[in-house]
Amino acid sequence: VKNPAFETKRASASSALSGIFDAERGTLLPRAFVDPAIYALELERIFSRSWLFICHEGHIPKPGDFFTTYMAQDPVIAVRQKDGGVKVLLNMCRHRGMRICRSDQGNTKAFTCSYHGWAYDLSGKLVSVPYEKEVCGPGFSKSAWSVRAVPRVENYRGMIFACWNEEVPPLAEYLGDFKLWLDVVLDRRPAHATAIGGMYKWVIPCNWKLAAEQFASDMLHADTTHLSALVSSRSADIPPEWPPAAMKSGQVPSAGGHGTGFFTYPDGIKSFHDGSGIQGRWADLERFRKSRAAHNPLLDRVMIQHLTLFPNFSVVTQIDSFRVWHPRGPGEIEVWAFTVLDADASPEERNRHRLANIRAFSPAGTFEQDDGENWVEVQRTFAGTEACKTPLALQFGLGRTDWVGDPTLPGSSPHCMNESAARSFYGRWLEMLSTEGSSKTRVAHG
Ligand code: FES
Ligand SMILES: [Fe+2]
Repeated sequence: VKNPAFETKRASASSALSGIFDAERGTLLPRAFVDPAIYALELERIFSRSWLFICHEGHIPKPGDFFTTYMAQDPVIAVRQKDGGVKVLLNMCRHRGMRICRSDQGNTKAFTCSYHGWAYDLSGKLVSVPYEKEVCGPGFSKSAWSVRAVPRVENYRGMIFACWNEEVPPLAEYLGDFKLWLDVVLDRRPAHATAIGGMYKWVIPCNWKLAAEQFASDMLHADTTHLSALVSSRSADIPPEWPPAAMKSGQVPSAGGHGTGFFTYPDGIKSFHDGSGIQGRWADLERFRKSRAAHNPLLDRVMIQHLTLFPNFSVVTQIDSFRVWHPRGPGEIEVWAFTVLDADASPEERNRHRLANIRAFSPAGTFEQDDGENWVEVQRTFAGTEACKTPLALQFGLGRTDWVGDPTLPGSSPHCMNESAARSFYGRWLEMLSTEGSSKTRVAHG
């Protein structure tokens, strides 16, 4: 059944897209951040057709463990099954639409709706309806009214992702070469990384792309935006001449829309500074660095600032803060942030890590507040009639024919301050928005 209101939005969105982003010229119209028609299209064509982060497997280790979150604006429950598998269920009762689970996380044998008492088992099957014998006719079958399960659920190194679209490529293919960069945080020591502490949740009145694109590409803002936080948290392990003149850097654009930027260390661990010392997270920093460089040689060479997995999952790699930018309309996001740590870390290291995250990247964190202030201000400006049709420049690195990427670092382009990953982020965004079709349409990812 077509929703006429939505069809109107779709028609107006298609025209709204014309000229909105030009990858060749590196221009973007701010309407991308404020137009409700574009937002409606994003929900349908991007968020329903992308692998979205759900939770870390450490959030639901045992059968019956559940964790409630969102896939864009759809509430979902990740639940560990009796056989050890994970299902992701739409958190919506089939009777009148109440959420069947209203807790953040916990352990249960069943989900009982708090409205009229329908109960579902861990797999989402409807198992109990009050007054069933008295009021249900022969045409009613409980088996027809399970809650919907998200058809695709996969795990990459402990990170659980789900996708509504049955036709998208498997998660590994969706990540593509970008796995290399994700492994800088997820595969750095033999002990598995595990989620620690709680989930920070807060709201920022800004469009989700301001956060996601910045984490994919904007390595430049740190020197200016975070200057006071950098100075005040500067720890003894940062050499005074940092960054050294010999240090090289790069950025990683990706056809899949993912992106990151990095510095490289010509002499490996000797000039190694990756921010691990910021806020004193490690009791024995040297041991930590050596063990991870021995495990994943890339870690002896690169320091990533931050990264985004398209569309809305980002990591501040230097402090292991993982976050989802849940969209809440064109002008609002709900940020959900948590941290992971090597499973063999000592209780003291866990506590240091937890506190460092609170200080730097929680809602009250010194760095976090800097970023949020920019996004709120920018979003407010884009509300202006003239402002929202005034092109923005995303041009760093365009036309630099003298640049040669490092062949040992696949997909990279030189200099981490360039904006190639921002252009590939919006390129992917526009490609998906422009691809019509049913939910069965296969959308290529790279
Ligand atoms: S809405 Fe859930 S039982 Fe009625
Ligand atoms: Fe920042």
